[in-house]
Amino acid sequence: MKFSGNTFVVTGGASGLGEATVRKIVEQGGNAVIIDVNTENAKKLSEELGEDRVLAPGRVDVTDEDQVDQALALAVERFGTLGGAIICHGVIGAPTSIPGYGPSNGLTSVQQVKFVNNINFIGVYTVAQKVSEIIIKQETVNDDAERGVIVMVSSSAGLDGVLLAYGVAKAGVAGLILPMARELAPFGIRVMGIAPGGFMTPMAISTAQLGDAFVAPGYSPGFPRRAGDPSEFAFMVSHIVENPMLNGHVVRLDAGVRLH
Ligand SMILES: NC(=O)c1ccc[n+]([C@@H]2O[C@H](COP(=O)([O-])OP(=O)(O)OC[C@H]3O[C@@H](n4cnc5c(N)ncnc54)[C@H](O)[C@@H]3O)[C@@H](O)[C@H]2O)c1
Repeated sequence: MKFSGNTFVVTGGASGLGEATVRKIVEQGGNAVIIDVNTENAKKLSEELGEDRVLAPGRVDVTDEDQVDQALALAVERFGTLGGAIICHGVIGAPTSIPGYGPSNGLTSVQQVKFVNNINFIGVYTVAQKVSEIIIKQETVNDDAERGVIVMVSSSAGLDGVLLAYGVAKAGVAGLILPMARELAPFGIRVMGIAPGGFMTPMAISTAQLGDAFVAPGYSPGFPRRAGDPSEFAFMVSHIVENPMLNGHVVRLDAGVRLH
């Protein structure tokens, strides 16, 4: 599979890692469909990169199945077929109005876990499932009889067991990769996960703090001793999309840093 000449759904495509992925897709000659609640950034990006190449279908909340269905229907109407999905949306925590953000206030509340998992886990599967259902019905595209690629974003927090609500959702995403790859193998669809460490995006606390975090307690030293650039994430996505032997596992993209 290649970005070139194909269309990819990018959730969280209005910011950070998703935005870098949209830019990479267009740079390599593909089309992108942005699924995001940040309509302003999505529209700006679409205008900058070309509305014929980047579809920004308005506000699409991944927790609302109807909104996702409508956006995917628009994508198919505009571009004909889909080559896959890069699922990058996410939140780090629930709004402060939802109580019980552990550990300082006791064990993380059920409301926190529900809120974060609804977006970061159920929302991920919602898009992955719906995009896969569309691709299953399409023709194969190469000699391997490949139909598409689904890439989902986990996190080192999920693999290293930190941040209860967020980390559990991200461990859930990591846990989805192999069973989904097995279910989709008969249809020629690969499924891969990426578990980033710290990357310079609006989600990261701040540029300066994220830089410091790499030498602070809680992080093991890695190399290079800096946070990742979103373009380095997009580079990994493009490699996964192109390399047919990558399937069914989660790639750590964290410069060797472990959280503890
Ligand atoms: N930046 C990092 O250091 C880092 C590390 C590990 C994992 N991640 C993961 O990478 C992914 C991208 O994060 P980022 O750093 O680019 O963050 P970001 O905040 O820059 O982008 C996240 C995007 O998701 C969108 N979004 C949030 N809730 C949504 C919803 N309900 N429906 C649709 N869109 C929604 C936001 O509007 C935003 O545009 C996330 O899943 C995040 O958990 C990031």
